[in-house]
Amino acid sequence: MATVIHTENLAVSFDGVSPVFEKLDLAIEQGEFVTLVGVSGAGKSTLLRVIADLIPAFRGSVRVDTPANSSRRPIAMVFQAANLMPWRRVRDNITLGLEGIDVSDEEKTERVRSTLDLVGLSAYAERWPYQLSGGQRQRIGIARALAVNPDILLMDEPFGALDAITRNALQDELLHIWKETGKSVLFVTHDIEEAVYLGDRVLLLGGEPAQIINEYHIGIDRAERRGSEAFLHEVDKVRNGLQAAIDAASSNH
Ligand SMILES: Nc1ncnc2c1ncn2[C@@H]1O[C@H](COP(=O)(O)OP(=O)(O)O)[C@@H](O)[C@H]1O
Ligand SMILES: [Mg+2]
Repeated sequence: MATVIHTENLAVSFDGVSPVFEKLDLAIEQGEFVTLVGVSGAGKSTLLRVIADLIPAFRGSVRVDTPANSSRRPIAMVFQAANLMPWRRVRDNITLGLEGIDVSDEEKTERVRSTLDLVGLSAYAERWPYQLSGGQRQRIGIARALAVNPDILLMDEPFGALDAITRNALQDELLHIWKETGKSVLFVTHDIEEAVYLGDRVLLLGGEPAQIINEYHIGIDRAERRGSEAFLHEVDKVRNGLQAAIDAASSNH
């Protein structure tokens, strides 16, 4: 399998002195769904941003290896708030992300149609953002990211603001999309159950400066995850790992 994201000895620092995280080695394979958990402030969002090249590395390197193609972008991001433009219809919010990509107007129209279809909102193209529920807005945020046909989806707590039922539905929808498109996903959440439900692998970011202090391979079939004993056992393992990291950090102060 090809490695699509590769970081080596990576550190990011905002003040040029103390790193948020350091010595971070990470490899994500093509088509993998990797989730990243850690307490608030651990550096999860920062890691996504350095991978997306929105901020520079302080030390070490980030390599993103995807086939070069002007009709797509290697990476697309989805955030906790969909950040839709209120003065643009749903359709135009999705098209907006396609500016600067080398595709015809027909292809753009087709991408809006197919991504809205993927997120189950075909009937909503002409709506305004204020006419959507929170869950629908997040779906449009996902459609907008998928429209650029990225090889890699970076998702930063995309379901964090949603109620439990909507959240579960969107998790299943995302898994469906992932299976259908074969994209690689790096998904940040502070919700351990969400991480274990979605991921092939769960990475635990913790410590000061943070590092990836543990990694959990989730071997349970996804159809048998929600609520099963094996699932709850994995959730416990990750929760204990996170708690151990918090205890270790507080005993250093
Ligand atoms: N633009 C920034 N300037 C200075 N410090 C920042 C900036 N962004 C994040 N930080 C700091 O970096 C650390 C990690 O933040 P972040 O990556 O947002 O954590 P997480 O997403 O895990 O909650 C925090 O201590 C935060 O205050
Ligand atoms: Mg964050």
